Amino acid sequence: MTSRSLPLAGQSPPPAPGALSLDALRASVRDRYGAVAGRVGDASAAACAPAGASSGCCGDAGETWDPITADLYEQGETAGLPAGALLASLGCGNPTALAELAPGEIVLDLGAGGGIDVLLSARRVGPTGKAYGLDMTDEMLALARANQAAAGATNVEFLKGHIEAIPLPDASVDVVISNCVINLSGDKPRVLAEAFRVLRPGGRFAVSDVILRDGLPEDVRRSMPMWTGCVAGALEESEFLALLSAVGFDAPSIEPTREYTRDDALALIAGTGLDPALADRMAGTIMSGFVRARKPAADAPTVRAARSSDLPAIEALLAANDLPVHGVADALASALVAEHRGRVVGAAALEPCGDAALVRSVVVDAAWRGRGVGERLVTRLLTRADANGLAATYLLTTTAGTWFPRFGFAPIARDAAPPGVRGTAEFRELCPDSAVVMHRARGGAA
Ligand SMILES: C[S@@+](CC[C@H](N)C(=O)[O-])C[C@H]1O[C@@H](n2cnc3c(N)ncnc32)[C@H](O)[C@@H]1O
Repeated sequence: MTSRSLPLAGQSPPPAPGALSLDALRASVRDRYGAVAGRVGDASAAACAPAGASSGCCGDAGETWDPITADLYEQGETAGLPAGALLASLGCGNPTALAELAPGEIVLDLGAGGGIDVLLSARRVGPTGKAYGLDMTDEMLALARANQAAAGATNVEFLKGHIEAIPLPDASVDVVISNCVINLSGDKPRVLAEAFRVLRPGGRFAVSDVILRDGLPEDVRRSMPMWTGCVAGALEESEFLALLSAVGFDAPSIEPTREYTRDDALALIAGTGLDPALADRMAGTIMSGFVRARKPAADAPTVRAARSSDLPAIEALLAANDLPVHGVADALASALVAEHRGRVVGAAALEPCGDAALVRSVVVDAAWRGRGVGERLVTRLLTRADANGLAATYLLTTTAGTWFPRFGFAPIARDAAPPGVRGTAEFRELCPDSAVVMHRARGGAA
């Protein structure tokens, strides 16, 4: 067992990896993955893994067993791929299996490594499509290009560059995939903004990554091996969703694909110099997840924070739909509007009530119903509520009791709502007794 190194008296502790500059973080990440690529190259050159073999043949190219990267692909799925691509598989999921790629689509893999997901994508999009792989590490790019040649893939191109500054034009790809890379970046908002920029309107973000359910112990957060090992830099669920919304994505969601136990945590911290006892506090806090989001279609309404000048339009929209306008001015600070060519075509607001909030004034112009505007408004509102730490959200509805469950709302008895919510004007006076009261806990559980 390796004991944790403590700073000597008078010495300041090393900066947490997240506090380092983007360049310093990139250098550590590049060192680790450059070395892995070298080991994979050596193992492939030793020819102990004929093309089509699974990664078990040559062992693990020198890294210890890792519960995050192990057994991600079905054997039939990777049959025929070069051994070097299988050996270099360092992801935490199987994004191409979940991304529903179609023939003819253009796919970009952020942090493509040895290229396994690029080669799998290339098969799915076929000769009329194209798969790009972007990576910053020369050794990985060399390995990926050797794997491309061995696979004979002609609809593939590997690009050198950073995921924080993608070397492709605006609106040039249909799908952005990535497998266990965004957690490694020191500037995640920039990565997501870049993914948004290069996607065409309506394009999909379909990414596997490590996600945190709760905070990690501080020692783990500060550990560079845990950062380069894809754990310490991972985002929490609500942070990831909020960042996706903030850069403009619609309908962000996270589907857990693997949850890590105490034994997995022990394997993850082995060799990092951290105290193995930390594994007790890591159990259940780390998962792998599939993160989906969509860039709004061209000419779709934009969802943005409401301004005071929007108040008359919001009130008119509510009145036209027989919804209460009382108190909307007070809820304006938390309100969102959907705007299309300068006209407000939808709105939604949160009325704070202690550590909970009441969702109110959800309204969409009749001409825009059934086109995803309401979903975008409510998703954005709830993402913000979760990111602000609100414990729960409530709402009252007479007509949309079957619509709200998709966001995690479920009906509750009227008197089960907390006093703060029961005290709102909407609850006391404005909604008839027949209105259904619905509840959603933080993160979406009813
Ligand atoms: C954990 S590996 C995953 C590789 C691949 N996606 C897979 O599933 O096997 C991370 C890869 O991302 C690349 N990478 C990490 N940070 C990057 C950045 N900021 N810009 C470009 N590539 C990066 C590394 O060089 C490495 O090849």
